[in-house]
Amino acid sequence: MLNVLVLHGPNLNLLGTREPDVYGNDTLADIDSQLTALAEELKITIRIKQSNSEEVLIESLHSSREWANGVLFNPGAFTHTSVALRDAIAAIDIPVVEVHLSNIHARESFRRESLLAPVCLGSISGFGSQSYMLGLRSLIKYVVH
Ligand code: DQA
Repeated sequence: MLNVLVLHGPNLNLLGTREPDVYGNDTLADIDSQLTALAEELKITIRIKQSNSEEVLIESLHSSREWANGVLFNPGAFTHTSVALRDAIAAIDIPVVEVHLSNIHARESFRRESLLAPVCLGSISGFGSQSYMLGLRSLIKYVVH
């Protein structure tokens, strides 16, 4: 059985009411239940965690080494700022797929750079909650081949 850690970063707990014109109307609970249904279909185990804290996200990446075959990660605004998260991803030697609800390349200039993308397996951006589903499917295909 493959194990995947799903990590949601800062402010994603407010989805549903947070800038719905940018992020859509799905709540985080809606996304988590779509991911849980997909995990059942793919016959994998997922653990899901949301945190607004960079420290907690770093520690979750570290401890994923004990359990996970891959990580699906929406780092929120830390995407554009966090050398520490980049270093954590580079350190753990587990494939990490970066996902974003919005198309970060079509937004403000400060969002167009991801400090994390160069150390991730791949990045999916702009498909709303489907970014997570595409990311999970792609991560599993990579891990089993
Ligand atoms: C986001 C994009 C980030 O730029 C932003 O800070 C977020 C959400 C997305 O999923 O589109 O919090 O990661």
